[in-house]
Amino acid sequence: MKIDVVYGVQQLTPQDVQGRVVAVIDVLRASTTIAVALANGAKAIIPLESTEEVAVRAKQLERGAVLRAGERRMLKAEGFDLGNSPLEYPREVVEGKTVLLSTTNGTKALLAVQGARDVVVASYVNLTGVTTMLRTALRGGADIAIVCAGHERQFSIEDAACAGRYVHHVARRLSGIELNDAAMAATLLDRKYGDNLIRLFNSAAHGRALAAAGFEGDLAVCAAVDSYPVIPIYQDRQITKLGPERER
Ligand code: MLT
Repeated sequence: MKIDVVYGVQQLTPQDVQGRVVAVIDVLRASTTIAVALANGAKAIIPLESTEEVAVRAKQLERGAVLRAGERRMLKAEGFDLGNSPLEYPREVVEGKTVLLSTTNGTKALLAVQGARDVVVASYVNLTGVTTMLRTALRGGADIAIVCAGHERQFSIEDAACAGRYVHHVARRLSGIELNDAAMAATLLDRKYGDNLIRLFNSAAHGRALAAAGFEGDLAVCAAVDSYPVIPIYQDRQITKLGPERER
């Protein structure tokens, strides 16, 4: 069985994900925000390529049941209900709502993993739940691919370190697991930063940009390991929480 890490969707080929269980990571901030929204009762998140698509889909759905969400250059897209800050997704805002989401990197990575057997959205805030799901799949004979969204088509250290944390926990004490070089490099980054995720985010270009844009509070949310223990599954073009109504 294999665990491969892929850095950035531009490197992704259909064979990287075909038939595999795939975890998509965009720690800052899309994958964290998705976990927070689902934990706070959002009915579903629908990832979409563009803000125009969000606007069109919103018109087709029942008004009041839907939230238009997403960012461009970190800020809420014009005329939208929500941006991409996890702090904008409390229960009183998202409960029972379908969130149409378009972000610069995270939703693009989700849309790029067509052909996977299963797709799960991974971050630090749902580490243990998603690890358990991936480990169960691996022990059942599935190969895993961890896709790091990166930032504006570049490698991003926070996604890589988070991928390394997953590789470490998913493969722990299992024998015969093959890691690609990217997965081995990711575990080294995870080990370098350890539990000091704020230090990790402060070294990351996107972390520094978010702090400079006034989103420092988001970094603390994104660093809170296991604070939103949901398993977000992307299936049939929407992300919902794994639970009694959607068992694996
Ligand atoms: C993205 O999906 O592009 C990022 O989450 C950008 C952001 O931090 O808003």
